[in-house]
Amino acid sequence: MHLRTDALRKLRRWLPMLVLLAAACSPDHYPQTALRPISDFARIGDDIQTQTFYWALGVFVLVEGALLYAIFRFRGKPGDPEPRQVHGNTTIEIIWTVIPALILAAIAVPTVRGIFETSAIPAGDALKVEVVGHQWWWEFRYPDLGITTANEVHIPVGQTVSFRMRTADVVHSFWPPRFAGKRDVFPNRETRIWFKAEQAGEYPGQCAEFCGIQHGRMAFRVRAQTPDEFQSWVAHMQTLGAKPAAAAVAPPADSVRTATAGAVVPAEPVQGKQGAAPRATGKDSSATGTPPAPPPDPAYAAGEKLFQAKGCIGCHSLNAVNAPKGMIGPNLANVGARSYIGAGSFKNTDETLARWIQNPQAMKKGVLMPNLGVTPEEAKSLVAFLRAHQ
Ligand code: CUA
Repeated sequence: MHLRTDALRKLRRWLPMLVLLAAACSPDHYPQTALRPISDFARIGDDIQTQTFYWALGVFVLVEGALLYAIFRFRGKPGDPEPRQVHGNTTIEIIWTVIPALILAAIAVPTVRGIFETSAIPAGDALKVEVVGHQWWWEFRYPDLGITTANEVHIPVGQTVSFRMRTADVVHSFWPPRFAGKRDVFPNRETRIWFKAEQAGEYPGQCAEFCGIQHGRMAFRVRAQTPDEFQSWVAHMQTLGAKPAAAAVAPPADSVRTATAGAVVPAEPVQGKQGAAPRATGKDSSATGTPPAPPPDPAYAAGEKLFQAKGCIGCHSLNAVNAPKGMIGPNLANVGARSYIGAGSFKNTDETLARWIQNPQAMKKGVLMPNLGVTPEEAKSLVAFLRAHQ
């Protein structure tokens, strides 16, 4: 009796903590969960996991139950005679070999089926998205729609999306946990993954293969949208192209690779008078982009100049349409509208963006964007310029 009340008292003391602990495990606190699937692909894996869990639970209850029963039912008492000595029992040994084999076979059937289903190439009207992993950000290109973006992949709900993936440098792994499992991306070898989103919203994704010092901050966002929202996003992105005059002298897309890893990009002074048209020297002009209606903001104009003068343009394209391939830095065509900067690392506020522009190395040590000696005033202008790129 005394023991029972003692145990009860202990339970009462720990119960609130256990409840709190269980609440802390709620997926709402950890959105990067594979346990709440919202795509057909993710459900395949989740179903297999659930089935395997129940098999394991059954085995656990049976084995532990038999163990506890034996412990209490056949407990020796002082003065008991020597128990009967047993050396093997063929029948029992066959039973406890065959049963696990059958359970494993039962688990293997959905597992193997799942492997084939998730490795299949989707047929029909799948939306094609090319994924390029970079240290440490993600590039997303929509070849049939002619647009490029970075770190936030927009997808329509209810349509299968077929991702074809590779990397510009080391091995990464593409992992949008609510939608699909992990898939490594390799240099010189294409891997694929597909899924059909079931619900709109913004969900986290993460690089899942160690790829250098900022592997942990190589995240991305999946923005699942209703078909209408997605279509209007595409239509809007398709307006974010090069200025026609500049496009005419633009070099072949692949040639715009400047600045090596960690290099300081030399600042290029803007030549010509204030208010003169941007220089059409090829390399720069193709990447300036045209947001629909540049606001008549002096900070915007100053930021536009700084974007060239500080060399930002050497690594970042502002074109969603006909974006050059092989750029070192993420495409910024719609950076103003993104939720996060630094590849899913920091909320995209004017404050973080200004801090990032001035000192990216302090926020994401080792990131390939060098500190470019931007003053707080200049950062304000650059933020105004980038914020307008929605
Ligand atoms: Cu890319 Cu880890």
